[in-house]
Amino acid sequence: MNNVIPLRDHKPAQPVANDHLAPVFAQFPLEVTDASGVFLHTPDGRKVLDLYGGHAVAALGYGHPRWVEALTKQAHSLCFQSNAVPLDVRRRAATKLANFCGLGLDTIFFINSGAEANENALKLACKVTGGNEIVAVEGSFHGRTAAAGAVTWGAEKKWYGFPEKPFDVRFIKPGDIDRLSSLINNDTAAVIVEPIQGVAGALDLPKEFLQALRFRCSENGSLLIFDEVQCGVGRTGYPFAANMHGITPDIITTAKALGAGFPVSAMLIAPHVASYLQVDTLGTTFGGGPMACAIVEAVIDIIESENLLQNVRERSAQIRKTCVVGPVVGTQGAGLLLGLRTSRPAKEVQAELLKLDILTGTSADPYVVRILAPFVLGSEHVEQLSSALKKIGK
Ligand SMILES: Cc1ncc(COP(=O)(O)O)c(C=O)c1O
Repeated sequence: MNNVIPLRDHKPAQPVANDHLAPVFAQFPLEVTDASGVFLHTPDGRKVLDLYGGHAVAALGYGHPRWVEALTKQAHSLCFQSNAVPLDVRRRAATKLANFCGLGLDTIFFINSGAEANENALKLACKVTGGNEIVAVEGSFHGRTAAAGAVTWGAEKKWYGFPEKPFDVRFIKPGDIDRLSSLINNDTAAVIVEPIQGVAGALDLPKEFLQALRFRCSENGSLLIFDEVQCGVGRTGYPFAANMHGITPDIITTAKALGAGFPVSAMLIAPHVASYLQVDTLGTTFGGGPMACAIVEAVIDIIESENLLQNVRERSAQIRKTCVVGPVVGTQGAGLLLGLRTSRPAKEVQAELLKLDILTGTSADPYVVRILAPFVLGSEHVEQLSSALKKIGK
């Protein structure tokens, strides 16, 4: 598993970090002081168009007045009580999220991060089915904890640090429908899948593949978990990718845009799975705190009342139509989870765009620039991207 020098023999050549932060992140060459709307501000006075949104989190951009108001109001009223205390704001947030999804996954469990949502979903799947195996899709990213990391493609070689996985894992190629009947069998507790694979490069999995997963899981008595941590809560231009495809999984996990900058995640659970839940089946201290719940309620309210799903669809169509220029040779993904396929290394294109004050992301695919823009993006911002791409050339 691990070819690291054991701690007892390890003699570090130099101190690890000089800013007291764990040196575990690759960082953009960009310091940010504050932000407003869809622009980040730097100490030297630059105004950078943010098409990356802090890994798909900043769904409403920065400083949205109703987001700020919801947080401030809740902070004044009640900053925290755990799930041991019933709260109206928690019930309201759960109702809002269940209704926003509208697929009948009406039981909500709030936690704090994407990985934690997946960890709980996988635990619940093993518990209710008695299965000891999870099927995941090649290219997937589900998080860095024990179970979520176990179903993340390539984690074992790169960073998975646990001596054993909590269950057996089998990976399937995206679209490999022919293998489903042999792969999903009596041992299979669940299939976990990102309908649009984010880290892989905004790769939209074929609808027929997702439908076949749904069919085989139902036939076999395994759960289908849609990991919509990155693609959920409006990012596709629909409440969830599940809505976009008209496929109802047994559990949806979601995070990122759900808090639009406040840490919160959730599981949306179908009734036949929720019927297994009892006191202590799942648990959390911070999850479902009133600040997070006030934000969930406000974020969904803003998405609905400001017609942001439609804006996401329109800006996405505009990008697809006008941004296949310069080094961009094609697009993939859905809504504002888009991959711009490039003729030369995406990192090069990303660096050149940043010089022109546009922040984008890359992905596991070296030829895909990832766009995870705020849902409030305007047509003038897409024009800015299109001109910059023309300027940097093929
Ligand atoms: C699809 C998906 N699932 C899970 C995660 C993990 O979320 P977190 O970093 O909040 O634990 C991510 C994070 O990028 C993600 O994109």
